[in-house]
Amino acid sequence: GVDSLMRVTPSILKQHNKRDDAWSSFNGKVYNITPYIDFHPGGEKELLRVAGRDGTKLFAATHAWVNVDFMLDACLVGFMVSEPAS
Ligand code: HEM
Repeated sequence: GVDSLMRVTPSILKQHNKRDDAWSSFNGKVYNITPYIDFHPGGEKELLRVAGRDGTKLFAATHAWVNVDFMLDACLVGFMVSEPAS
């Protein structure tokens, strides 16, 4: 539920860049794309290009007509936030 959604900084996102632990952000929303890898019509290699980083531009360039928010609703991790000031 919405209570368990995380605030994700770019450095946290970057830690999830492995095939067995892959997160990506699209328009500020962070998804765990790991369970979707085997199902991506464009293949594993293409999808993993966005693991651990913002995939908004690549996603829009390849298939702007696909509704990622609908498709990966169950894989929503949280929302991107800025790094805390240090
Ligand atoms: C195809 C979903 C990320 C590259 C597709 C299709 C879907 C899909 C539903 C079929 C589209 C159609 O036939 O109209 C997703 C989702 C993504 C994602 C939910 C994010 C979680 C990416 C990324 C890339 C990519 C980041 C590129 C770096 C492609 C390519 C195809 C494709 C090249 C065409 C495959 C073909 O027709 O042979 N994707 N995609 N996708 N996707 Fe993705």
